[in-house]
Amino acid sequence: MRKKVTVIGAGNVGATLAHRLVDKQLADVVLIDILDGIPQGKGLDLLEAGPIEGYDVRINGTNDYADTANSDIVVMTAGFPRKPGMSRDDLLKANYDVVKAAVTQAVKVSPNSILIVVTNPLDAMVQTALRVSGFPKNRVIGMAGVLDSARYRTFIAEALNVSVHDVEGMVLGGHGDTMVPVPSYTTIAGVPIAQLMPREQLDKIIDRTRKGGAEIVNLLKTGSAYYAPSSAVVQMIDAIFNDRKKILPCAAYLEGEYGIKGLFAGVPVKLGARGIEEIVQIKLTAEEQAALEKSAAAVKELVAVIGV
Ligand code: NAI
Ligand code: 2OP
Repeated sequence: MRKKVTVIGAGNVGATLAHRLVDKQLADVVLIDILDGIPQGKGLDLLEAGPIEGYDVRINGTNDYADTANSDIVVMTAGFPRKPGMSRDDLLKANYDVVKAAVTQAVKVSPNSILIVVTNPLDAMVQTALRVSGFPKNRVIGMAGVLDSARYRTFIAEALNVSVHDVEGMVLGGHGDTMVPVPSYTTIAGVPIAQLMPREQLDKIIDRTRKGGAEIVNLLKTGSAYYAPSSAVVQMIDAIFNDRKKILPCAAYLEGEYGIKGLFAGVPVKLGARGIEEIVQIKLTAEEQAALEKSAAAVKELVAVIGV
């Protein structure tokens, strides 16, 4: 039997994600939104592309959570995107209400699903989803690190004029201005970045990565990024459905790992059929560890505001 993915929010990220999922035939998809007609229209349009693209998967747009029942994965993209001049954190209270309401309804009918949260501010919203769902921590995952790392890897590949395939690198910490690109584990075809790029140049890339979301917002003016974010979610879903045991940077609930307790933060995790199967603990430099703790402190402040 085919897997089933519910995508909550039929906006830019949600609809693009649905598109990528059916294109790759990873699952049947249910697209749900509070707007009447938008998920139905986008769902039907995607379904009608099936005979041309050659996919048989089902895609259904709805406003009714009954249609989402027994999903294997529920992706939370509903909420309000950032506008120019608005920080991710400004979104906090508005999106807390959205995530709370949507997750409550979704988990009622898909009690065994894995939740992937995208809505911003990411770290606080994924913590909201954990509390509201009552799910075990391995089944509640935040998407940010895969996206931020993809941006970091893109900028490095461009600067060195090498294939993106050759660039390995991780961005840890919260999905905000304090995120932590990790130079000590950044390599080009296995060669440490320090041998190929002066530190000042890498620092500029780190800064651009931290501002990567805002860079797109400032260009688009009417919304935020969605092509790379939806690709990032697909990579996570692929790792789970194919039980790949893939190591990816994701927001995970930490209980002492990396010296952080009772809080979500972006760390390397092993993603497989059970969701987060392991939090991979790597040795960071003192500077990177301090940056990770600073980032966690910023997340803690947000979480305190909404009391989750
Ligand atoms: P969008 O505005 O295009 O779509 C959001 C959709 O959510 C809209 O269709 C809206 O009707 C729907 N919605 C609002 N309240 C709802 C509810 N209670 N139930 C169901 N649907 C509801 O926004 P976009 O660009 O798709 O972004 C979605 C969220 O993802 C934003 O919070 C954005 O900041 C975040 N985001 C996070 C990223 C990350 O790295 N974690 C990357 C990109 C976006
Ligand atoms: C991004 O990083 C808006 O958080 C979103 O593009």
